[in-house]
Amino acid sequence: MPIVNFGSINLDFVYRVERLVRPGETVQAMGQELFSGGKGFNQSVALARAGASVRHVGRVGEDGRWLVDALEAEGIQTDAVEYGNTPTGHAIIQVDSQGENNILVYGGANLEITTSAIEQACAALENSDWVLLQNETNATAQVMRIVGERGNPIVLNPSPMEASLLDLPLASVHTFIINRSEGEALSGEREPKRILDRLAQRYPRASIVLTLGDRGALFARENLRLEVPAERADAVDTTGAGDTFAGYFLAEISAGSEPLPALQLACRAAAHCVTQPGASPSIPHRAQLDSGHA
Ligand code: RIB
Repeated sequence: MPIVNFGSINLDFVYRVERLVRPGETVQAMGQELFSGGKGFNQSVALARAGASVRHVGRVGEDGRWLVDALEAEGIQTDAVEYGNTPTGHAIIQVDSQGENNILVYGGANLEITTSAIEQACAALENSDWVLLQNETNATAQVMRIVGERGNPIVLNPSPMEASLLDLPLASVHTFIINRSEGEALSGEREPKRILDRLAQRYPRASIVLTLGDRGALFARENLRLEVPAERADAVDTTGAGDTFAGYFLAEISAGSEPLPALQLACRAAAHCVTQPGASPSIPHRAQLDSGHA
């Protein structure tokens, strides 16, 4: 089924450091690279490389044309991506010698998607289309309200997590894809299985996917509980692993797969992603995973 992704598009300025900078400290970076990124961008790429049909809705400045070209090169529909005077969003990313990162995002054009672009994209939805949302654009609340009433399945990756998300009509979400800190903020619980139980109880119609990095992923829907271990990988850069997981999981589920094989494939794709630098460049193509060259 086609997936319409209202998603961020970022320039990722990635700095390689021995260890992540602490408050008040100045450290010398060992290297710097520019990559395409943004949670929305990465998830669209992961969906497309997993074999899904994707339409991306978003906004960039003139400096972001190459990012839109990159989406098109993946076979992603970009007619609903707007251009404006505000520069493209960007992220400052530190990656340490263990592949761990921290990310500072500046919204830029991602926060200026026009109301009319959002309304048009929502009006163009077919009943069978899935809608994907993260929280790096200004579209989240408006899309949730319009699409919630239309009834299309909404997949929400509430990242970055903000208290204002709790005011949205979350009961209309079909699938939450969350990491542990997002799960804690949404549920008020700390322990992963309690996070799942609490959210499954609060949103009884939703599927809850909780990603736990190198501990794999948990799943809840009604009384069903699943646990899938992570695949072993030598991490070089964990940036984009969660986006890769989300794209692969949604591609599988929207194509009619059961949750268990979808989780297993998503964990495999995420493990591949962490072995290469950069977010979107390291997202595997399905053929790489199918052939075992992951
Ligand atoms: O999830 C990784 C992404 O988060 C990066 O590509 C960066 O742009 C931020 O949006």
